[in-house]
Amino acid sequence: MRKRICKILVTGGAGFIGSEFVRQAVMKGYRVIVLDKLSYAGDLKRLADIRGRYVFYKIDICNEAKIQRVFNKEKPEIIVNFAAETHVDRSIRQCSSFIEANVRGTQVLLEASRKHKVKKFLQISTDEVYGEITRGSFREDSPLKPNSPYAATKASADLLIGSYVRTYGFPALIARPCNNYGPWQYPEKLIPLSILKILRNEKIPVYGRGKNSREWIFVADAAEGLLKIMEKGRPGEIYNLGSRQELRNKDVVRKILKTLKKEEGLISFVKDRPGHDLRYCLNSQKVIRGFNWRPKMNFEEGLRITVSWYLKHKKWLLSKWQSISPLYTN
Ligand SMILES: NC(=O)c1ccc[n+]([C@@H]2O[C@H](COP(=O)([O-])OP(=O)(O)OC[C@H]3O[C@@H](n4cnc5c(N)ncnc54)[C@H](O)[C@@H]3O)[C@@H](O)[C@H]2O)c1
Repeated sequence: MRKRICKILVTGGAGFIGSEFVRQAVMKGYRVIVLDKLSYAGDLKRLADIRGRYVFYKIDICNEAKIQRVFNKEKPEIIVNFAAETHVDRSIRQCSSFIEANVRGTQVLLEASRKHKVKKFLQISTDEVYGEITRGSFREDSPLKPNSPYAATKASADLLIGSYVRTYGFPALIARPCNNYGPWQYPEKLIPLSILKILRNEKIPVYGRGKNSREWIFVADAAEGLLKIMEKGRPGEIYNLGSRQELRNKDVVRKILKTLKKEEGLISFVKDRPGHDLRYCLNSQKVIRGFNWRPKMNFEEGLRITVSWYLKHKKWLLSKWQSISPLYTN
């Protein structure tokens, strides 16, 4: 007998990770509804190669009435919530839009999902909710100690979801990925920002002494892991999604410079980001052992692919400069 096709609603599906998730879900045969307000970070060009294979709504997740209408019309069975304000530096300058999208927006989706008795709700959280760790790694039951306003709003959403699971028996689960990189990432984030600065013949700003270290995962690996969590994950559970490929920021930038055959002198160490977490690291054994998932891409190869993608999409990259220049003009 043919398997019934499941309908997934993906919020933030025009964003960096969401769009890769949508692409993989469509390829796997899911019926996908993309809901995105197309903020400065959203761009349907990311989905151009699968145009016509998903349904799209340009809607803000905070708009209760419009969200209800989409649920009534589409009757999605699974919700995957990527929609969020995502840039830490912006959250430090102005936090209210983060509270609105990341906390209230999540609550609007939870209520609509509860009313419509969806089968599963997967929240895309982040490793940043745990705060920094100088040695070892975070497990799913590590305490939440977010340090940036962005991370605090993501942790708040996680707490709200925990309360829905406990109070209403709501079938939500949470995924906490580490730093993603790859094609189509908005150039306010370290890797594409560095490439953009190099293309503009400008110095690359690196916070502090560049010693902050992150775990880096290629976006296609992350999307594959998130699909596994969506398919196999149990309601009420939390799943870390890391790669164990840890690099300090200055080493990431050095590798980009080397790939583009540029001098290290292009690095400019700038005043540190307030509250900057030194290191994140996840223990992802629950997903690795439980779901037989493993990231395939090693960082060097993923970075080469990423750099050459941005060189091929120079126009797109350079066109975003205006929106980020207030944050990163030397
Ligand atoms: N990028 C990373 O390294 C990373 C790591 C861990 C977790 N995450 C989480 O993954 C998710 C996706 O991250 P990303 O890097 O793809 O982000 P992104 O900034 O590239 O995309 C976010 C998308 O959400 C949309 N959006 C924002 N506010 C919205 C609203 N109110 N209503 C509807 N749509 C809205 C934007 O238009 C955009 O398309 C986020 O929840 C983020 O917290 C990201």
